[in-house]
Amino acid sequence: MTQAALQYAHKNQSRALEELKELLRIPSISTLPDHAKDVRRAAEWITQKLKAIGFENIQLLETPRHPVIYADWLHASGKPTLLIYGHYDVQPVDPVNEWETPPFEPTLRGENLYARGSSDDKGQVMVHLKALEAIMKTDGRLPLNVKLMIEGEEEIGSENLKGVLDNHKKLFQADACVISDSQMLTPTQPLIVVGLRGLCYTEVEVTGPSHDLHSGAYGGAVHNPMKALCEIISKLHDAQNKITIPGFYDKVRILSKEEKEELVKLPFTDKTLQQETGVSKPWGEAGFTTKERIGARPTLEVHGIRGGFIGDGAKTVIPAKALAKISMRLVPNQTAEEAGRLFKKHIESLAPSTVKVNVKILHGADPALVDRKHKAVEAAAKAYETTFGAKPFYLLEGGSIPVVVQLQRMFNLPVALMGFGLPDDRLHSPNEKYHLPNYYKGIECTIRYYYELAK
Ligand code: BES
Ligand code: MN
Ligand code: MN
Repeated sequence: MTQAALQYAHKNQSRALEELKELLRIPSISTLPDHAKDVRRAAEWITQKLKAIGFENIQLLETPRHPVIYADWLHASGKPTLLIYGHYDVQPVDPVNEWETPPFEPTLRGENLYARGSSDDKGQVMVHLKALEAIMKTDGRLPLNVKLMIEGEEEIGSENLKGVLDNHKKLFQADACVISDSQMLTPTQPLIVVGLRGLCYTEVEVTGPSHDLHSGAYGGAVHNPMKALCEIISKLHDAQNKITIPGFYDKVRILSKEEKEELVKLPFTDKTLQQETGVSKPWGEAGFTTKERIGARPTLEVHGIRGGFIGDGAKTVIPAKALAKISMRLVPNQTAEEAGRLFKKHIESLAPSTVKVNVKILHGADPALVDRKHKAVEAAAKAYETTFGAKPFYLLEGGSIPVVVQLQRMFNLPVALMGFGLPDDRLHSPNEKYHLPNYYKGIECTIRYYYELAK
């Protein structure tokens, strides 16, 4: 049975590529209101595919912003029910000039397909659709019951997903969940994510004069909001690169000896970091290794600063206001709610009396840990090993997938994070790509995963 599906997948690779390209041409950027129609178009495109595969009960569950796709196939009586999660929304593309080819014109260079969303997460959503199609078209039925939940707000924090899950508790009931929205270590070395960081995303706005001022007429007499903002930002880390927010580290979980040893064994060195990022040396919190700092320690980043004059040429102005986008990555047992509260208090305490400071929390997600001993995770290890010829590594991942902890809390659902991206896929960055051998092998691996879990 598995063999027929694998053969089908192999024979249909070029169509699988064409269909992925079709989906990638839809600019479903969830955070930009101007793209709301495109986001919906991507959802509708997927529902058409699901129909063709033979899925039933296909619905777009509406939210205040972008819909959640639901579909199921529930005819494997006595077998477990697997919930497959993915997201069809993508991150913005700027700076757009740095793309070698346009972000929504998927382009093949070598073995890589370049486009926004190619790896995160449309390519990996398509892995599942193609695996399901291969089985349905050869066997006429799936080896287990399947529910799909593909959302359009992952890249903006999955805020509305909670409500959808709450309102449709029965619909989403399952025995396990699989998510392909993460990365392998290399094209031949699979990796199972056993922890994800949480996130608290904020905006800090500093307001000074009621309007922009001539910097000669008033310079020296008013506190420049842009500079005040930079002063605040510069105080958010100390000389050890620790975050200065009081109480911020109180609930941070300390790794066990075994977890530390496992991290050390990962084939990831400062050289790897250099190669992947182009930096000359690593940076971060004193007292921890690079992998610990990424997977097991909380961090704070500045994503952008807006204000003043940034056009070509020169303009002498004191801007009336300045704004920074700042986020914190969180680890167990921190929560987004508490991190936001502590952050706000700290920023307010750092605010000089010469300006006004306003802190806004845009979205948050709590960190998650998954049980690697669960059958749903062990099945992923088996499918990986058969497909790639190597046992997977286990990793505490630095990124966030908000739904994981939501599913754990609401349904006590075990989650398997079986990804097929690569560390150099340039997620969220210009020239995002998907390594096509990972697409095709991912489909094979996923076919094996379904059968393995159904055993
Ligand atoms: N797929 C990523 C998360 C990820 C990245 C997992 C790298 C494993 C390796 C996901 O789409 C993502 O980018 N999530 C956001 C979530 C946030 C907006 C709440 C993130 O981590 O920034
Ligand atoms: Mn993703
Ligand atoms: Mn992402």
